[in-house]
Amino acid sequence: MTFYERWLRPLAFRLDPETAHALAVDALAAAGALPPARSLLKSLYAFEHPSLRTRVAGLDFPNPVGLAAGFDKDCRALSALAAAGFGFIEAGTLTAEPQGGNPRPRLFRYPESRAVVNRMGFNNDGVEAASRRLAALGPRPVPLGLNLGVNADVPAEEAPAAYVRAFTRLAPHGDYFVVNVSCPNQQGLRRLQEKLRLEKILAALQGVNRFAKPVFVKLSPDLELAELEGLIPLLLEASSGVVCTNTSLSRDPALLGTRLSQDAASTRGGLSGAPLRELSTRAIREVYRLSGGRLPIIGCGGIFSAEDAYEKIRAGASLVQLYTGLVYRGLGLLGEVQEGLARLLLDHGLSRVGEAVGRSHALSPASADAPVPAPD
Ligand SMILES: Cc1cc2nc3c(=O)[nH]c(=O)nc-3n(C[C@H](O)[C@H](O)[C@H](O)COP(=O)(O)O)c2cc1C
Repeated sequence: MTFYERWLRPLAFRLDPETAHALAVDALAAAGALPPARSLLKSLYAFEHPSLRTRVAGLDFPNPVGLAAGFDKDCRALSALAAAGFGFIEAGTLTAEPQGGNPRPRLFRYPESRAVVNRMGFNNDGVEAASRRLAALGPRPVPLGLNLGVNADVPAEEAPAAYVRAFTRLAPHGDYFVVNVSCPNQQGLRRLQEKLRLEKILAALQGVNRFAKPVFVKLSPDLELAELEGLIPLLLEASSGVVCTNTSLSRDPALLGTRLSQDAASTRGGLSGAPLRELSTRAIREVYRLSGGRLPIIGCGGIFSAEDAYEKIRAGASLVQLYTGLVYRGLGLLGEVQEGLARLLLDHGLSRVGEAVGRSHALSPASADAPVPAPD
C-alpha cells in the first residue's frame, strides 16, 4: 500500500470529492512554485527509461503516460505535474469565456467499482486567464495539450467560431490541441461529433492554424461502430489523431463488462475509471483497425496498472492518459505504470514503446490485412 493509499486517501475520501480535488490542485500549484518541492516530487514519483521515449504527431515525449484533461482545467499546477514525471499533460477543457459549470454536487466517487461519475459541465476560468498563466510559465518541460470546448450558450452553428476563438488565444501556448466534442455533460455537445458538424469545426481550426499545431479530436466511448467508421476519413484528413475516450453515459453491464452498484448506475453524468476500461480499449482497437494504424491514438479510460496501459498500447494507442486511477491510487500510480511498461517491453523483447503500438492486431488472424505499425 502506498503512502497515498494508507494516509492521504482516507482523509481525502472524507471530504466532498470536488473539495478534495480543489485541495489537491491547490497543493500541487503551491508545490510547483517551489524548486525544493518540485525536486521532491521528481525524486518520489518520476521514472525515466530510454524505451519509454516516443515521438507522436511530430512531438517528442519522454514517456507515453500523460495526465488526462479535466484534472488541471485552468493550467494551475503544470510545473508540479511535469516534475512528478507525466510524459505529457493535457489541461482544460477551456472555453472562450469563463463558465461556472453545472450546480453542485456534480462529482461522485464509487470506490467499490473504482469509478467516478462527473457532470461538471466545463467549469473553467476561460482562455484569457489560462493564457496569462501559460505566458508566465516559461518553457514547457513536457508536451502540453490544451483541450478546448464551447460555452454552454453557444448554438451548434456557432461552434466552429467558438473553437476558433479559444484556439487562436491559446495557440502559442500549447504543443497540441484537442477538440472536445465528447463531453456528455453539456447539452448537445456530443452532436458535434456528427461528421458534417465536425468537418466544419476542423476546417475552421485548420484555417487559422498558423503554427501547424497538431489538432486531436476527443471521442466518446458511446459512438456506434458505424458512426466511428463514418468519421475515420475526416479524422485522417483533417486531424492529427484522436483521444479515445471521454467518459461514458452507458451503465449497461453487457457493454461495460461489469455491473455497477445501484447508486453508481443511477447517478447522472459521465462514468470513468475501471468500468470504462474495456469500452475505451474497444474504441481504440476499432479506430486503429479502421484507420489501418494511420491515425495516432491517445488512449484513455480506466487505467489502473501497467498491464492496463500496455493493453491500450497493443490495441493501438501511441500514448496513454490517467485520471480516475490517480483518485484511487495517487501519483504513485504514474511511476508504477511507467516502470511496469518498461518491464513489459523488455519481457516482450521490444526496445521502444512505439514497437508495441497496435501489436495485438498483428497477432490476430482476423485482422491480418489491417495493421500498419503506427508511427511512434
Ligand atoms: C472529474 C472529471 C472531470 C473531467 N473533465 C474533463 C474535461 O474537462 N475535458 C475532457 O476532455 N475530459 C474530462 N474528463 C474525462 C477524462 O479526461 C478521461 O477522458 C476519462 O475520465 C477517462 O479516463 P479515466 O478512466 O482514467 O478517468 C474528466 C473526467 C473526470 C473524472
